[in-house]
Amino acid sequence: MGKLDGKIAVITGASTGMGLATAKLFVREGAEVIITGRDQAALDAAVLDIGKGAEAIRGDISSLADLDALRAHVEARHGRLDILFANAGVGKPGLFEEVSDEDFDFTVGINFKGTFFTVQKLISLMPAGGSIILNTSIQGVRGTAGLSVYSATKAALRSLARSLTAEYGPKGIRINALAPGFIDTDIMRRNGLSEEMIREMKTQSTAHTPLGRIGTGHDIAKTALFLATDESEFITGVELTVDGGWAQV
Ligand SMILES: NC(=O)c1ccc[n+]([C@@H]2O[C@H](COP(=O)([O-])OP(=O)(O)OC[C@H]3O[C@@H](n4cnc5c(N)ncnc54)[C@H](OP(=O)(O)O)[C@@H]3O)[C@@H](O)[C@H]2O)c1
Repeated sequence: MGKLDGKIAVITGASTGMGLATAKLFVREGAEVIITGRDQAALDAAVLDIGKGAEAIRGDISSLADLDALRAHVEARHGRLDILFANAGVGKPGLFEEVSDEDFDFTVGINFKGTFFTVQKLISLMPAGGSIILNTSIQGVRGTAGLSVYSATKAALRSLARSLTAEYGPKGIRINALAPGFIDTDIMRRNGLSEEMIREMKTQSTAHTPLGRIGTGHDIAKTALFLATDESEFITGVELTVDGGWAQV
């Protein structure tokens, strides 16, 4: 018997990275999982990779029309939603004085506004017992050069988990933030960092991490599973850090 038998889950941004790793684990635990992303070919490959139990809906979380379409699909096909992992996000770095109006709107529009409206559109499909997980970052509580906009969006999501806890706790819906440390995905490559910069960051992060390694998508998937199931039924409004101890020392 799986830990998520009979559950319906949406994972945004699950064509790659930690979203994909989480979709695989959720399906293995018995959930029906709807994954999203902007690239149809990547979504098709992910559905093949995950296998039976997964379906893909193409959409950009910064588009309210796409989010309406996602909601309409979930409602028509499943009638309810038990788990939402609001995971989609971008991490474009840039020094403070070089951040343009467009850069600012791009990152805020996806990471904060897009995640805010993902939750707003889907939350009324959730019965009591529902679990929402917001993918934040340890950068939301740190100061890192070149990450002013990104880090602020993640701090905003951490705040959102608290506000929604006050509003939806009485309805039996839990909202937690999951804050990854350095996780081995393609996000940095996709956002323009060179191979040399990525190698250097991995070396530095590994050296600074008490548990002596950087994280994997599966580390995040296992934590998302904990937050999605009744094993965490009395936990809401928190930010759970998954970073091998990196931000604690
Ligand atoms: N990797 C890390 O070290 C790290 C650390 C802390 C937090 N995080 C957070 O973890 C989350 C997942 O990142 P990842 O590392 O797994 O990176 P990733 O491999 O780049 O995955 C990002 C996923 O989000 C999708 N996505 C991006 N923008 C989207 C949009 N506007 N609408 C819908 N889907 C979108 C991407 O697909 P498309 O591009 O095809 O849309 C992809 O499926 C992000 O929120 C990120 O900020 C990552």
